[in-house]
Formats: sequence, structure tokens, C-alpha cells
Amino acid sequence: MIRKPLIAGNWKMFKTISEAEAFADSFKGLYQSSDIQVAICPPFTQLEALKESFKDTDIKLGAQNMHFEDEGAFTGEISAAMLKEIGVDYCIIGHSERRQYFAEKNETINRKLIKAFSVGITPIMCVGESLAERDADRAFEIVKVQLIEGLKNISKEQAERLVIAYEPVWAIGTGRTASPEQANQMCGFIRDIIEELYDDDVADKTLILYGGSVKPENATEIMNMEEIDGALVGGASLVPEDFIQIVNF
Ligand code: PGA
Repeated sequence: MIRKPLIAGNWKMFKTISEAEAFADSFKGLYQSSDIQVAICPPFTQLEALKESFKDTDIKLGAQNMHFEDEGAFTGEISAAMLKEIGVDYCIIGHSERRQYFAEKNETINRKLIKAFSVGITPIMCVGESLAERDADRAFEIVKVQLIEGLKNISKEQAERLVIAYEPVWAIGTGRTASPEQANQMCGFIRDIIEELYDDDVADKTLILYGGSVKPENATEIMNMEEIDGALVGGASLVPEDFIQIVNF
């Protein structure tokens, strides 16, 4: 398989610096490097401390958001260059909580993706439908539009490095996971869209993760699905003993 699986922890707005350092200490004691790429995406203020904590490991670092402009009067925002300087490898872009609470649109997400690629940060682009959209049988159509609009002007070379996370909104933080078959079907559909937008070579390389209530109990089943290349893990990434079980699925 040419795609190296990725398991990324999305800490959302949890943990102070000292809590992050305590996590890193325990996690490093449990972690052994393998063929799986592991990344932690803490809040901005913990990035530097975790960079230091993980410096003697192959654990990567991701941010949860960034602005699409280089700099400017954007109070409260963080630029791609600021993240790059810390040594951030990934940035989650277009998470459903950003779409829902911070009015991010496909167009904003597209601009952020372009900026992330321009500084060499690998975006983890989130797509996924709401419960109402799934119930109305519109899940595939919604995800397709998110991909087409989000990936506008993203080159083939960039798309090959892209990570996409399929996160059905109804499965995030709810304890309700998509069934492995549902998740696999949508990840396969996403790969088909990537093939349509680019070609099969790109589609073979794009990493497609599943996210939404991934836990130690369901990680193996999800990770073993053919179209799923990894997981974006929220709640269960906050506890070293849980996250390691997912990493070692
Ligand atoms: P969850 O979050 O694992 O807590 O459902 C996943 C995510 O939002 O990335």
C-alpha cells in the first residue's frame, strides 16, 4: 500500500500547557514508532510545548485552524507562517465545528487550503454531512460539493499530499459512530471524486481518514476497512491510554 496510515488526535479546546506536557510524558512512555503516522493537534498555545516534548520521537504536530491571509488586522487569528515557524506539519481545515460555529464556508476553506500548501503545511481537510442531510439522502451530494468547492485551484501535486477526513457531523462527539460500512462507502466515494477531479494516480495517494466517535473499542474495525486510511480522533485522543490503543489498533 502506498498510503501510510495517519492517526491524528484533535484536542479541540482542551488542555493547558501543563496538561499537554503531562499527556506527552505518559504517551511517549506507551508509544512505539511503527508504520502508522501519529499526529497531535492541540490548541495553538500548546504547540510549542508539544514540539519540544515530541522532539525525540516521530510524532507529528498539527494545528486546528489558521487564517488564509499572510498577515493583517485580523484580531484573534493565526497565520500559516506563524504555525510553520513552530514546526507544525499538519493543520485541520474546515472542521465541522468551524463550519457550524464560526461560519466557515467552502470558499474560506479553499483559501485556507491554498495558503497551507503554499507554506508546506499538510492540510487535513474535513468534509461531512449533517444528520438532516443524511436523512434527506443528500450525504453524497453535500460531500461532493464540499470537495469540488474546497479543492478549487488545488493542483495535482498538492492534492497528492492532501489528507481528507470524512467526519459525519452526527457522529462527532455523540458516541454515535457511522457504521464501518457507511464510513467505508463514503471514503470510497471521496476517492472516486478525487479521481474525477484529478486522476487515479492522485486518488491512490490521497489519504482519506474517518472521524467521529473513534474509540479503542471500534478502532480496529474502522481501520481495517479498505478505503479508510486512518482516523481523526477527538475525545479519545485526550487520554494517553485510550489514544495509544487506537494507534496500536
Ligand atoms: P470525536 O471528534 O472523536 O470526539 O467524535 C472527532 C472530531 O471532531 O475530529
